[in-house]
Amino acid sequence: MKVLIAGGAGYVGSTIASACLDAGIGVVIVDSLVTGRREFVADREFYDGDIADGPLVDRIFAEHRDIYAVIHCAALIVVPDSVADPAGYYRANVVKSLDFVTHLLRNGCERLIFSSTAAIYRASEDLTVDEDSPVAPSSPYGHSKAMCEAIFADIASVHPLHVLSLRYFNPIGADPKMRTGLQLRRPTHALGTMIRAHDEGAPFLITGTDYPTRDGSGIRDYIHIWDLAAAHLAALGRFDALPGRALAINLGTGRGTTVRELLDAFNRAVEHPVRAREAARRPGDVVGAFTRIDRAQRLLGWVPQYDLHDGIRHSLQWAAIRDEILPGAVSE
Ligand SMILES: NC(=O)c1ccc[n+]([C@@H]2O[C@H](COP(=O)([O-])OP(=O)(O)OC[C@H]3O[C@@H](n4cnc5c(N)ncnc54)[C@H](O)[C@@H]3O)[C@@H](O)[C@H]2O)c1
Repeated sequence: MKVLIAGGAGYVGSTIASACLDAGIGVVIVDSLVTGRREFVADREFYDGDIADGPLVDRIFAEHRDIYAVIHCAALIVVPDSVADPAGYYRANVVKSLDFVTHLLRNGCERLIFSSTAAIYRASEDLTVDEDSPVAPSSPYGHSKAMCEAIFADIASVHPLHVLSLRYFNPIGADPKMRTGLQLRRPTHALGTMIRAHDEGAPFLITGTDYPTRDGSGIRDYIHIWDLAAAHLAALGRFDALPGRALAINLGTGRGTTVRELLDAFNRAVEHPVRAREAARRPGDVVGAFTRIDRAQRLLGWVPQYDLHDGIRHSLQWAAIRDEILPGAVSE
């Protein structure tokens, strides 16, 4: 089996590529390196270019006639940037994805796995969601992902294409073999800022302490990146048995972790604990949610193998070697 991974030089795509290669699945990567890293594709079959480039996509399919499925991870993903530049985000994520799927259809692609996100949901009062929860994105980034899902579903209803949208919750950790990890030197999510606070001996800001959660801090569903990759392998294995022409499956752990709980777990993993300081919510912050994972279990036969502590441990391990593997000042 061979798969084409769009965005395979990024955090998620490069990890999926490693998992595929470990499982004996051939991998071809197309990536424009707008945020991805050449180091992550150094020993891989790689096409440097844009998913919207029709002749390039035609060439990839001509040179790899045995592509079984396409995994589409290529996107811009920074929520505040999408608020500042909605047109740019819709162009990058929606227009280019529409071009890409058109190129895929022309080349006879029948199986598409799309990287979607929990950011499309409005959570219920108990802060859980499942695939039938209301879709109500709160940012242009979230909208762009929901729009792609809708576009792909409409196309799949009249073309010989099946689409599986995997809605990721909050990926953390790194490849347990440390081949790849988060390429950003200064990630802005809670675990990233915790690691930075730890390195700098600074306090960690708990931004928002009046949310309707068990301890007032925001809640997330942290899924280990290797488990996320494993879910893609499971999806490839069962793709043709999945119901419908367009299906969505949530990928999380089924457990919510508050920011305070994350900090407690983090402090158990490090020698010098990080102090917490309470601060006001930042604009755009949301209480968060966690997912029920029945559908992933039932349809993919997949359950996460790693826990929060593994995710923290692997993130710390990766942060310690990141500059060695990814030298240079880019991707701050
Ligand atoms: N990381 C998360 O927290 C998260 C959560 C939910 C969903 N997702 C989704 O997962 C996917 C991958 O995210 P990530 O965290 O790996 O981000 P990333 O920025 O690390 O990876 C995205 C990759 O896509 C490439 N790319 C972007 N636009 C391209 C284009 N037009 N043509 C070719 N390549 C292009 C980038 O260079 C990069 O390598 C995205 O679609 C994102 O929406 C990520």
